[in-house]
Amino acid sequence: MSRGLFITVEGTDGSGKTTQIKLIEEYLKNKNKEVIITREPGGTKISEKIRELILDTENTEMGIITEMLLYASARAQLVSELIRPSVEAGKIVICDRFVDSSYVYQGFGRGIDLKIISDVNRIAVDGLVPELTLFFDIHPSRALKRRISTTGADRIEKEKMDFHKRVYAGYKKLALLYPDRIRCIDSDRSIEEIFADVKYCIDELI
Ligand SMILES: Nc1ncnc2c1ncn2[C@@H]1O[C@H](COP(=O)(O)OP(=O)(O)O)[C@@H](O)[C@H]1O
Ligand SMILES: [Mg+2]
Repeated sequence: MSRGLFITVEGTDGSGKTTQIKLIEEYLKNKNKEVIITREPGGTKISEKIRELILDTENTEMGIITEMLLYASARAQLVSELIRPSVEAGKIVICDRFVDSSYVYQGFGRGIDLKIISDVNRIAVDGLVPELTLFFDIHPSRALKRRISTTGADRIEKEKMDFHKRVYAGYKKLALLYPDRIRCIDSDRSIEEIFADVKYCIDELI
C-alpha cells in the first residue's frame, strides 16, 4: 500500500477554511479517493474532550502554557490515533488547523516563545509533516467585514482585532519561512476563484 497524503488547512477565523474543505472533500470523492476530514483541536474521542476543556468559557483561569500544552496533547492523540494510521493506509487526510496554528495563535498571538512551541510540538507530532498546507490568506479585517455582512459580528470580535492581526502577520511569516510546504491562497475573492487555486495545488500532488 503506498503512502497517502496529509494536507493541512490554515487561516484566521472566517478565512473560508470550512467552506473550501467541503469543496475539496467533494472533489476528491468524485475522483474515488479515500478522504478523511478532521479538525483541531479534536478529531478523536479524547481530543474532543480536550477541545471542550480548551473552549469552555468558564475556564477563565487557564494559563497560556496550559492552553498550549492542551492543544499539543489533543494533537498528539489525533496524530497517533487517526492521521498517521490513515496516511499509512493510503488515505488522504485533510486537517482543519495543525501545528502552524499553535505557532501563530499561541506564539505570535499570545507571545509564547516559538522555540518552546517547536519543542513541545516535536514531541506531539513525532516527525509528521504535512505534504501541503493551504493558507487562506485574507486580512482579518476583511474576513470580519464578510462575517458582519453574513452573520452580524459583535463588538467583542472587533476588540479582538489586534490579536487577529498578530495571528495573520504570523501566518505571513511562516509562509515565507516554508515556501515549499505552505501555499498562500488569495482568499479575498469568490469561493469559486479560491477553489480553482486550491484544486491546482491538490492536482499537483495526486
Ligand atoms: N470567498 C468567500 N467570499 C465570501 N464569503 C465567504 C467566502 N468563503 C467563505 N465565506 C463565508 O464566510 C464565512 C466564514 O467562512 P468559513 O468557511 O466558515 O471560514 P473558517 O472555517 O475559516 O472560519 C461563512 O459565512 C462563509 O459562508
Ligand atoms: Mg471553520
